[in-house]
Formats: sequence, structure tokens, C-alpha cells
Amino acid sequence: MKEKNNDTAFFGQPKGLSTLFFTEMWERFSYYGMRAILLFYMYYAVSKGGLGMNQTTAASVMSIYGSLVYLSNIVGGWLSDRVWGPRKTVFIGGVLIMFGHIVLSLPMGLIALYASIALIVAGTGLLKPNVSDMVGGLYSENDRRRDAGFSMFVFGINLGSAISPILVPWAANGFGIHMFGNEMNFHAGFSLAAIGMFFGLMQYYFGGKKYLSNDSLLPTDPIDHDSLIKILKKSAVAVIAVIVLLVIMAACGQLNIANVILLITIVAILLPIYLFVVMLRSKKVTKIEHSRVLAYIPLFIAAAVFWGIEESGSVVLALFAQERTVLHIGSWHFAAANFQTLNPLFIMILTPFFVWLWSKWKKQPSAAGKFSWGLIFAGLSYVVMAVPGLLYGTAGRVSPFWLVGSWFIVEIGEMLISPIGLSVTTKLAPAAYSSQMMSMWFLADAAGQAINSQIVKYFSTGTEIQYFLIIGGVSILLGLLMFFLVKKIDGLMAGVH
Ligand code: GLN
Ligand code: ALA
Repeated sequence: MKEKNNDTAFFGQPKGLSTLFFTEMWERFSYYGMRAILLFYMYYAVSKGGLGMNQTTAASVMSIYGSLVYLSNIVGGWLSDRVWGPRKTVFIGGVLIMFGHIVLSLPMGLIALYASIALIVAGTGLLKPNVSDMVGGLYSENDRRRDAGFSMFVFGINLGSAISPILVPWAANGFGIHMFGNEMNFHAGFSLAAIGMFFGLMQYYFGGKKYLSNDSLLPTDPIDHDSLIKILKKSAVAVIAVIVLLVIMAACGQLNIANVILLITIVAILLPIYLFVVMLRSKKVTKIEHSRVLAYIPLFIAAAVFWGIEESGSVVLALFAQERTVLHIGSWHFAAANFQTLNPLFIMILTPFFVWLWSKWKKQPSAAGKFSWGLIFAGLSYVVMAVPGLLYGTAGRVSPFWLVGSWFIVEIGEMLISPIGLSVTTKLAPAAYSSQMMSMWFLADAAGQAINSQIVKYFSTGTEIQYFLIIGGVSILLGLLMFFLVKKIDGLMAGVH
């Protein structure tokens, strides 16, 4: 506890922030680096170093994978709160993630792909919610550096996310010397992701020993032996139920990737609905809190639609980069995977502007108003992508600046939704459900990507114009609809801004 208040060793922040900053930077480095090449790894022909999967299946897997990574946050948050404490949970998560990348760095085909997905879904669930939670734990209740600390942490996320889509594809391309000719060495790329996570783990282990408090080694709400046994029994029943379901599906000849993805999609949509119902019916929730949970429902839906579009950058826009974009500007050549750097890069560029804007703008919109605008920007980023097809047809390749423009627009939306959503989630949370509400925020992303896994199958060069216009249009319409609800939502928020 002693270091909580007066340690200013890391740019005025506690030294523990540096440990958490670099842990999350490396973890995101590995995650987004891997995702930048994973789509291509899945559908490239075997002769080109890929797995030769069907392109629509690959796109669908990308989306459901992204959904699972945020679904598993629920379990990770629970294990930290009740069993392991955040520090150990994060470490175990990091080890699983590292092995997830190592598995992919070996030439073991489809089995490795699924093993890697399982390891990284479990590992990220353990690591991601708890590393952020520990950032909060560095500050005492009224420490004014807390917000700035979180901003620096988010900067770390985006720094890692921006560097790896340059370095990992470079490794996968034989470090730019094209030593594999037409063939990619994806495994070299995945190895680099593994190495990144290894760096993160090392500095987490040694830095954590020195700079993180001993409190972080303990669960905040330790579970007693009997309850743990009960939960383990329930989980065993759930696991058996899933296995039985899979066996039945197999017996009916229905056990295939598409159906498994559909199953996960249904879970990702039903789970938040269930959690909302639990909160709204709970006796532990006061009247004001009840109203705030109601206010959170439209925000949740808006967030799910927003993240659906934002996260499709690593799937739909990645395909557009590969199939429809000129991959050079003058003599400067780049890979389709490199475009993934744009999202985090624009966040880093736009953040200072928005921090300034919110501090200066006296009559700024409420959270619901900002969410409406967020949806409109997300929708516009899609509508823009329909234009090149409308202008030039969908047969040839178009300027990379279409994608640059689209990402710039969606990132304006992200500035209106991501930081605002995080903060409003904590404020609207009923006291008895504070960590569950935090998980809800990530479940919005999970739900959005689950829906993506179903609709992305309809994306192709033949359908791109309709795809971008319909989904972009839906988002804009929802944004407009939300403008009419702003007053109502503000009222339900009962004093929260
Ligand atoms: N892109 C951010 C990250 O990877 C946040 C995603 C989210 O809030 N759903 O950390
Ligand atoms: N947009 C991704 C996340 O913020 C990189 O931050």
C-alpha cells in the first residue's frame, strides 16, 4: 500500500504503471500482429504457405474468434476476483497467450489453428480485464492522476497495436527480402508475436515483483471452499452439456465449423440479455440503479453495432485491402496486412484532440448524444467504402486512400464511443454488479463480432457495394434514431453524465 500515493517515477505516475503499460503493449502487439496475418494464413492456398480454407469461412472464423476473446473476459474477471487475484491471473493468461502464438509458429496446420485459438481466447480472457483492473488499483480513491494514468495505458494498447501490423507481416514476408518467392512464411510472423508476448511476460514478472502491490496477489472477494466446489460442479455439468450437444450434432452429421460458429453466435447474443435480466430483477439493485441499467440498454446496443463495424476492419477491410486495393504509393510498396496499423495510429493521433475538445466544450453532448454521433461516423466509414465500387466498378484495384479515409472516419467514431463508454459503464453500474457491468462493456464488442461472423459470409467483390451501403445505412439510421432517445436516456441515467 505504501507505494500507492506518492510514487511518481514513471512520467509522474507510479512505477507500477510502467509494468502494466508494457505488459499490455506487448500483449496487444502479439494479438493484433497475429490477427493482421491470420486471415490471409487461413485462406491462402497451401502452395502459398496458407491453410487453403474457403475465404468466407476464414472471415467468419476471424469474427467469431474476436467475439470469443471478449466473451472469455467474464471468466477471467471472475477468477481474479474470487480465486487467484489479478496478478497471478494476468501471468497465467500471458503464458497461455504466448503458447497460443508458439503453436501457430509450428507448421501443424488446422489442428494448430484451433489449439492456438483456444489458448489465446483463454489467455486473453485471463489477462485483459485484470491488467486494466490493476491500473485502477494503482491509485487511491481520490488520486487525481487516475484518468491520466488510464490515458497512458490506452496509449500503450495502441502503440503495441500499431507497431505489430508493420513488423509481423514483414517477418511473414521473409523480412522484405522475398526469400520465399511467392510463398509466405506465416510461421515466422507468428513467432514474432510469440516473442513479443515473451518480452511482455518477462518484464511483467520482474517489474511486478518490484512495483506491484502485494494486494494484487489476493482475490478481492475470495470464494469459500464449498461455493468453489458448487461452481466447479456446475461448470462440469455445463461442459458435459456442451460435449453432449456436439456429439448429437456429430451424430446428425451437423458438426461443422459453420454450425459451431452459429452456436457461439447465439451464446454471445443471449448472454448479455440474460445478464441484463438478472440485474433488472435483482433485489440488490436500488430504484435509481434500476433506471441506470435501463439507460445502459440502448447504449449497449449502439456499442455492439459500433464494434461490429470497427472490428470488421481486420476482416472485411482486410479483404478489401488484399483483393481490391493498389498496394503501393509510387515506389513505396506495402502488404495488405499493414493497413491494420491505421486504426491504432489514428487513435493515437486523435486522442489529444478529443481530450482537448471535452475539456473545452461547455455544452458538449451527453454520452447518449456522443454514441449517436459514433454510430453515424461508423456508418459513414462504410458508406465511403461503397463509393469506389460505384465509381469504377468492382473488378479492378483502387487507391489505398479509400481505406485510409474509411479508417479515419471510423476512428472518429471510436473516440466518441470507446473512452466515453468505458467511463459511463463504471458510472451506471449498480454497486452489487460493478465488475459484471465492466464485462458487459466487452460483451457489446463480443455481440457485434458474433453478428459479423454470420453476415461477413455475404461479403465479396460481387456484393461489396450492397454490403457497405446496407450495414453503413443501418448504423446511420440507428444513430439518427438514437438522437430522438437522447433526452429519455439522459433522464434514465439519473444524474450520471
Ligand atoms: N481495441 C481496444 C483493445 O484492443 C478496445 C476494444 C474494446 O473496447 N472493445 O484493447
Ligand atoms: N482500436 C483498437 C483498440 O483500441 C486498437 O483500441
